[in-house]
Amino acid sequence: MKVDVLTLFPAMFAGPMDESILRRARESGRLELALHDLRDWTYDRHRTVDGAPYGGGPGMVLKPEPIFEAIDELANDTTQVVMLTPQGEPFRQATASTLSAHEHLLLLCGSYEGFDERIRTRVHHEISIGDYVLTNGALPAMVVIDAVTRLLPGVLGDDASSVEESFSENTLDYPQYTRPAEYRGLEVPEVLQNGNHAAIEQWRREQAEQRTRERRPDLLKE
Ligand SMILES: C[S@@+](CC[C@H](N)C(=O)[O-])C[C@H]1O[C@@H](n2cnc3c(N)ncnc32)[C@H](O)[C@@H]1O
Repeated sequence: MKVDVLTLFPAMFAGPMDESILRRARESGRLELALHDLRDWTYDRHRTVDGAPYGGGPGMVLKPEPIFEAIDELANDTTQVVMLTPQGEPFRQATASTLSAHEHLLLLCGSYEGFDERIRTRVHHEISIGDYVLTNGALPAMVVIDAVTRLLPGVLGDDASSVEESFSENTLDYPQYTRPAEYRGLEVPEVLQNGNHAAIEQWRREQAEQRTRERRPDLLKE
């Protein structure tokens, strides 16, 4: 998958995009990530990307011209243009799954007071990563890239890992244990130690449902 990111802060992506699973996804070519500085589509001496809001009010608004031109240059017929905005659809595992099926994403990171409204005419998805306001769209874009990349075929060592986990079936994940079987008086449930796979599967299903009922009953209603 190719992911282009349009941002005022490409340097923010160094680190998170260069470690662990994302680094390996990039090295193997499963994720082709390109970071673009929005100011590269400006023509004045100050490389202006923002302007005062029409009608007055605090802060500055991202101008349409650099973003329209960047989309003209970077997007093609297969591209899904994604705007990161607190006004967007809440980002969920299902959204990550939908996006992971596309071959090209172009992520638009906002700054200041956000985007000139006309930019929305060029966008396929508006995504919010939660009901809070961040300073700019770089962190939300990284969240989306991380969640989408781990769903790409071959990125996780075992593709079943992304199926058997929280949210994949509208439940939270079941409790997990590793060795030792007993630590400081805390014991691993007997059923996980006896090798009866049918019993283990049933226990996990029950635990996942109980945990979801207790912590996230809203998921079960969906
Ligand atoms: C300070 S915010 C602008 C908020 C805007 N005035 C509003 O109320 O919708 C600047 C940029 O950060 C990004 N951003 C902030 N919070 C976000 C969130 N919860 N989800 C996605 N993007 C967010 C967006 O790209 C946004 O354009």
